[in-house]
Amino acid sequence: MITITGLSASYDAVDVLHAVDITANDGELTVILGANGSGKSTLFKAMSGVLRPTAGQVEFNGEDITRSSPAGIVKKGLAHCPEGRHLFPQMSVEKNLMLGAYVRRGDKKRVKALLERSYELFPILHEKRKQAAGSLSGGQQQMVAIGRSLMSDPTMLILDEPSMGLAPLITQQVFDTIVEINKEGIGVLLAEQNANSALQIATSGYVLAEGRVVLSGTAKELQNDPRVQRAYLGV
Ligand SMILES: Nc1ncnc2c1ncn2[C@@H]1O[C@H](COP(=O)(O)OP(=O)(O)O)[C@@H](O)[C@H]1O
Ligand SMILES: [Mg+2]
Repeated sequence: MITITGLSASYDAVDVLHAVDITANDGELTVILGANGSGKSTLFKAMSGVLRPTAGQVEFNGEDITRSSPAGIVKKGLAHCPEGRHLFPQMSVEKNLMLGAYVRRGDKKRVKALLERSYELFPILHEKRKQAAGSLSGGQQQMVAIGRSLMSDPTMLILDEPSMGLAPLITQQVFDTIVEINKEGIGVLLAEQNANSALQIATSGYVLAEGRVVLSGTAKELQNDPRVQRAYLGV
């Protein structure tokens, strides 16, 4: 479980995130909605140790991780699949996946099982495991990025706009996989601009605007909220 309290963050003294409170429960799918530039990625970076928050606290399973290192946070079971995928395009699919297992490198058996699970989840990646990651389609590259995050054996997975740049049909496939991952018991914190699809699979959600939480509720409540419908669902 993640409990974020009063979290603020800035870039070069420009405040971007303002006292954000968010809870993401184990095994649930929590969605963070918000227009481009509303602070979703900044929130995730501040949670995963990539960006030092200026105020507030991030608790993961009751432990304060606000000042832990990115690798330390992954080791505790919180994985961050960043926006834009950040693969090594020249390296093979399998090598990219294995990078995610870095914090588990002491346990060869476990890493092997994790790799098998990734291939089970994404059979196409097994087929293409020796190919350069950069030669894959956008959707397949997103699968590599998600698979790489799963290689660290997380109990909670942060996914930053996995549907970005993907065609609707491919987006649906990626969303189906997110549901499958969630069904395995892995909690998911998902940032999306694709509010419609995200709310269909989410348990609960938050809406960010200009770095602040402006709305929150169960996925159903948000779907039925006229403000969400107007701003994000095209109703
Ligand atoms: N590396 C950065 N340096 C300076 N400003 C940034 C940086 N990254 C994001 N910002 C700014 O922070 C705000 C929030 O951005 P971001 O968290 O990326 O939003 P979102 O992920 O919701 O699109 C925006 O105004 C953006 O321009
Ligand atoms: Mg973003």
